[in-house]
Amino acid sequence: IESSCDETAAAVIRDGREIISSVVATQIEEHKLYGGVVPEIASRRHCESIVAVVDEALQKAGMKAQDVDAIAVSYAPGLIGALLVGVNFAKGLALSLDKPLIPVHHIRGHIAANYLAPPELEPPYLCLVASGSHSHIVKVNDWTEFETIGQTVDDAAGEAFDKAARAMGYPYPGGVHIDKAAQTGDRKKYQLPHPHTANPYDFSFSGLKTAVINLIHNARQKGEEIDVNSLAACFQYTVADILTQKFIAAAKEGGYKTLALAGGVAANSGLRSMLQQRADYNRMKVYYPPLALCGDNAAMIGCQAYYEYKAGHIAGSDLNAVATMRLDRVTW
Ligand code: KG4
Ligand code: ZN
Repeated sequence: IESSCDETAAAVIRDGREIISSVVATQIEEHKLYGGVVPEIASRRHCESIVAVVDEALQKAGMKAQDVDAIAVSYAPGLIGALLVGVNFAKGLALSLDKPLIPVHHIRGHIAANYLAPPELEPPYLCLVASGSHSHIVKVNDWTEFETIGQTVDDAAGEAFDKAARAMGYPYPGGVHIDKAAQTGDRKKYQLPHPHTANPYDFSFSGLKTAVINLIHNARQKGEEIDVNSLAACFQYTVADILTQKFIAAAKEGGYKTLALAGGVAANSGLRSMLQQRADYNRMKVYYPPLALCGDNAAMIGCQAYYEYKAGHIAGSDLNAVATMRLDRVTW
């Protein structure tokens, strides 16, 4: 079960690798009206949809709730009111069915989405997580052992995409619109900054987002036209360049030959192709989650839950939702 942001989702997963069913009810159309996720609305919609979404996932799997071996839920990090809906529903279900309750860190789930495509990926490998709320370089030492070696010091990559897209006139969530516009733009037309960070593997995207906003304002004041497709191409190229440069440098230093990409921004075509090129050049192999599993879904939560369960990570009915939690220091 997944309800950390604006998607209510449920899935039935076999042995961590096989999707039996997966249902995602998105609230995007409603949040679009406000230019971003409104937490209070998100919680209310989760309350309204969770029963139907879980029922549909079971129905599609041809199963009854009693047939599942365990209940897993995304309990951190995320919007607290949104997470609470999934957590309380999962607790009730586990208690009434007398099944184990498995707490899953949402970002660990994003990483696990990679296990739902090719059968051979296994730790250790280095993962670049780029989502709407997180940007991390993570050593995946084992199925449930992680070490974050770099992260954003301000905006996440997806957040920067969404804010830059908004300034360009696209609706929320704007990442996918920039991706589309960039395909016909000239990526050399505008100059954008490459922000510096004290830790070479940390990211900073807020200056880049501000540069895009300033560029648009300045052009407007001078009555100049902005070539939006080219600005999208420049922005996307710069974000992909920053992410992949640091990621490949970290992989080289750590001696990694196996890499994986995760999170909503993993769907970005410019990021995928740049990472592939740079990994090929360095003789590294990259794994990607299936496109449909880059954004929030419950299949990835069920997948990671299998490994958490095998590691003995079982929660009691005192499990609580937590808004902020490092993926390499989980508690419940
Ligand atoms: O991982 P996710 O579903 O949410 C969090 O857990 O935070 O990521 C959503 C983010 C949004 O910022 C969205 O704009 C971005 O992923 N995104 C993209 C693309 N598709 C989704 N960003 C760039 N290019 C895309 N094709
Ligand atoms: Zn997510």
